[in-house]
Amino acid sequence: MINGKIETALNLQIKKEEFSSRLYLSMAVWCEVSGYPGAARFLYQHAEEERLHMLKIVRFVNERGGKAELYAMEEPASEFSSLLDVFTQVLSHEEFITQSINELYGLTVEEKDYATGTFLQWFINEQMEEENLMRTILDKIKLVGDDKAGMFHIDKELEEMSTGTSSNGTA
Ligand code: FEO
Repeated sequence: MINGKIETALNLQIKKEEFSSRLYLSMAVWCEVSGYPGAARFLYQHAEEERLHMLKIVRFVNERGGKAELYAMEEPASEFSSLLDVFTQVLSHEEFITQSINELYGLTVEEKDYATGTFLQWFINEQMEEENLMRTILDKIKLVGDDKAGMFHIDKELEEMSTGTSSNGTA
């Protein structure tokens, strides 16, 4: 059974993962209508991944005798100035999520809830991978600058990095 403090903190993390999913969906939409089909596909897929992160925590809270809550949330941004702007925001959002997971992990240590701590290990590793991936993409975009051919190439690369769900939502 999880204690109330941990339950509330996990529920807040559910909200953050759900918001991440909506934010990346919104970014995918912008990319799709702005001539970046590869980036759109990549972000549609990433939105799905965030939904899976959310579900993972939902199931965990319920299985531990708590109850997952779905909180109201603010609208994600829908206008971006460039692909550089999009991925700058993706990286800073992932850094925010990493910090949130770290704080959550700290709370489990404080509360001696080692089961939840072990559960969070997966998220700690996932955040490290996601931050690295987004940093690599952002570095490439920065390197290309205003070069149209370079940007076209990056978009193609993002398309190739996407597996599974395609931009039109089909597998
Ligand atoms: Fe679930 Fe990308 O944080």
